[in-house]
Amino acid sequence: MKLSLLFKQADSLIDCPISTWGWVKNISKHKEVWIININDGSTMKGLQLIYDVSGNTQEHITVDTSIKVSGTLVKSPKAGQPVELLVSRLEIMGKCDPETYPLSKGKLPIDYLRPYHHLRQRRQTYAAVSRIRSAASQATHLFMKQMEFLHVDPNSLTTNECEGGAGVFQVTENDISKPQLLKRTKNTITDISGNKQTITSDNYDWTSDHFGQPVYLTVSAQLQLEAAACALGDVYTIQPSYRAEHSNTAKHASCFMHLEIESCHFDLHDLITFGEDYIKFVIKYVLSECKEEVAALNEYVSKGLLNRLERLASSDFNRIPYEEAIKIAILKGKSIKYGEDLSSEVENCLTEHFGGPVSVYNWPIAIKSFYMKQDINNPTLCNNFDMLMPYKVGELIGGSMREDDCEKLQTMMKTKNIDGKSLEFFTDLRRYGTVPHGGFGLGFDRFVMLLTGMENIRDVIAFPATYKCPPL
Ligand code: 4AD
Ligand code: MG
Repeated sequence: MKLSLLFKQADSLIDCPISTWGWVKNISKHKEVWIININDGSTMKGLQLIYDVSGNTQEHITVDTSIKVSGTLVKSPKAGQPVELLVSRLEIMGKCDPETYPLSKGKLPIDYLRPYHHLRQRRQTYAAVSRIRSAASQATHLFMKQMEFLHVDPNSLTTNECEGGAGVFQVTENDISKPQLLKRTKNTITDISGNKQTITSDNYDWTSDHFGQPVYLTVSAQLQLEAAACALGDVYTIQPSYRAEHSNTAKHASCFMHLEIESCHFDLHDLITFGEDYIKFVIKYVLSECKEEVAALNEYVSKGLLNRLERLASSDFNRIPYEEAIKIAILKGKSIKYGEDLSSEVENCLTEHFGGPVSVYNWPIAIKSFYMKQDINNPTLCNNFDMLMPYKVGELIGGSMREDDCEKLQTMMKTKNIDGKSLEFFTDLRRYGTVPHGGFGLGFDRFVMLLTGMENIRDVIAFPATYKCPPL
């Protein structure tokens, strides 16, 4: 029986025969009984086993040995644990050699555990993060259902670069470790005697590759989502986005989970409100579904987490125009000028100034993406926003209204040197039944950092991929 179910049904299982299993987390050996704590990963608290060793030799039971047990569930005399199991039968499923096992020691720091992607979820901190992440994911779908958003599955392969400059991973079926075998394009040249000659160029011939043209891992599903929204109204997706940035920070991953929405019913401030409501909904869900996980992280990993989450769930978030954000940052002594992007330092300065989350809206269009809608009153600005979170999480959401006027969009693409070849579908949407629409992308891993108090994105992704650090 799974331990999470056992604890939920504990009252009705007292004095009943039970079979279960788990990894040994703690063992204290007395002369006649061993007290063993096991956990199967489904719950924060493990099950205490009372194992009568008289007549048994079980010297191989060490930390993270996996064992199968049967016995009788009884009320526990120990405070803080409702039940324990009087073991009648114990079987070792997998030994765990403490001499070579890297996690055999008691308390190990996060920095030590981080590289052990395949083992670290056996530790309570990582298991708690995984369960909170799962709850946040469930809450996401619940919220979207309540808001009547349709879940769609865009393709993670695409021919466009969407954000332009975000850094794309290109996809090929070829083995590029053997460049001499790659096909190259041919050029025809005319020599001085007027004879035509075909020569092989240095350029790779994409027409001979799988798709016949360059294809990338998506940096954002937005453009495909726009097509879906322009037929279905309100849509969302949560899927990986890939970025080839060389950012070796605590907030950047090469592959991150991206929650993206697109709506044909919202204006800019509706989008911000939707983002705020979503964040509060998920926090409340996690606080009610993962009480023990939050309490443990609050006590052992991130002091004050519970209080921070409760405050976020019940407080008003702030909104300011970009221009005002720059004025505040300058007043606070930060080195920034109007027209520049916000550094992490400025983001933190703004959230500290407001004592909580703040959405910065209406940025200069010159530093933003080609698809953002020009402000009707000031064409140097666009109707976009970045939602900044406190506690060093920084930018959690980036979103905007989209330019739905075909001519304006094409002019902006020219201004920003965007190659329109792979974006004909995108201009089509403005040509055939265009509609005002907008959306945003939320970095789900950064959100999990906020929910768990973990300060490094590598600790909230089970198998992280970051610059120069591939996943398993
Ligand atoms: O601000 P970004 O780049 O916006 C877009 O991609 C839009 N096309 C989304 C849309 O409107 N549908 O990314 C959105 C969010 C950021 O605010 C950040 O939280 C997260 O995605 N993000 C990353 N998270 C982890 N690692 C990275 N390398 C990230 N890059 C962006
Ligand atoms: Mg952004």
